[in-house]
Amino acid sequence: MDFEQEGSIQTLEEIIHSRRSIRRYQQRAIDKSTLDRLLDAAIWAPSAHNRQPWRFCVITGEEAKDRLSNAMSEQWHRDLSQDGADPEFIARRVAISRVRMTSAAALILVALSMEEMDRYPDEVRSQAEWTMAVQSTALACQNLLLAAHSEGLGACWMCAPLFVPELVRNVLELPQSWHPQALITLGYPAEEKIKDRSPIASKVVWR
Ligand SMILES: Cc1cc2nc3c(=O)[nH]c(=O)nc-3n(C[C@H](O)[C@H](O)[C@H](O)COP(=O)(O)O)c2cc1C
Repeated sequence: MDFEQEGSIQTLEEIIHSRRSIRRYQQRAIDKSTLDRLLDAAIWAPSAHNRQPWRFCVITGEEAKDRLSNAMSEQWHRDLSQDGADPEFIARRVAISRVRMTSAAALILVALSMEEMDRYPDEVRSQAEWTMAVQSTALACQNLLLAAHSEGLGACWMCAPLFVPELVRNVLELPQSWHPQALITLGYPAEEKIKDRSPIASKVVWR
C-alpha cells in the first residue's frame, strides 16, 4: 500500500518504521479536513465484535486547551506533592506537560464506552470484555498515530487522562459513560526523534 507525503510515496512499512512520538510542535493550525481524515483512520481499526467502543473529543480551541491543561496540571501537582516529590522536580515536570498540551495544534481525547459491549453477570467475563474495549480503543489510537504521521504531522500519546478520568470528563463535559484512555497531542513537528527497538529475538518465541 502506498501513501503520498510531500511529493514522495511512502509505503506502509516506511510509515510504521519512521513514525516517532513527537512532543514539540510548530505554531501552525491543522485543517479540519485533516483532523477528519485522522478520525476516519481511527474508526477503521478492528474492534471486538465490531462494537467500536471508542469515543473522541477533539480540542482545538485555545480556551479549552488551557482549561484542560490547567486542571490536569493542578491535579498532577497535588498528586506529586502528596507523594513527597521534590518541589523543583514537580514544577519542571508539570510545566513540561502543560506546554506540551497547550503548544499542540490539536488534542484528541480518546475514551472508551462499554455501552455497546456485552454484559456478563460474572467478574471474569466482565473484565475480559473491558479488556477487549481497551484493546480496540488502543488500535484506533494506533491508526490515528500512523495516519497523523502519514499526513506529515507529529503526535504523541499521553497517558495522563487515565489517572484523572473524572476531572477530564468534567472539564470537557463528556458523558459519564466515557472512560478516558489517552490524550493524543498533534501538531506539525518541530523536532526529530530517533528511537530503538529491542531485537525481535528478545521478544519472540517460535514453536
Ligand atoms: C500506552 C502508552 C502511553 C504513553 N504515555 C506517554 C506519556 O504519558 N507521555 C509521553 O511523553 N509519551 C507517552 N507514550 C509514548 C511512548 O513514550 C513512546 O511511544 C515510546 O517511548 C516509543 O517511542 P516512539 O513512539 O517514538 O517509537 C505512551 C505510549 C503508549 C503506547
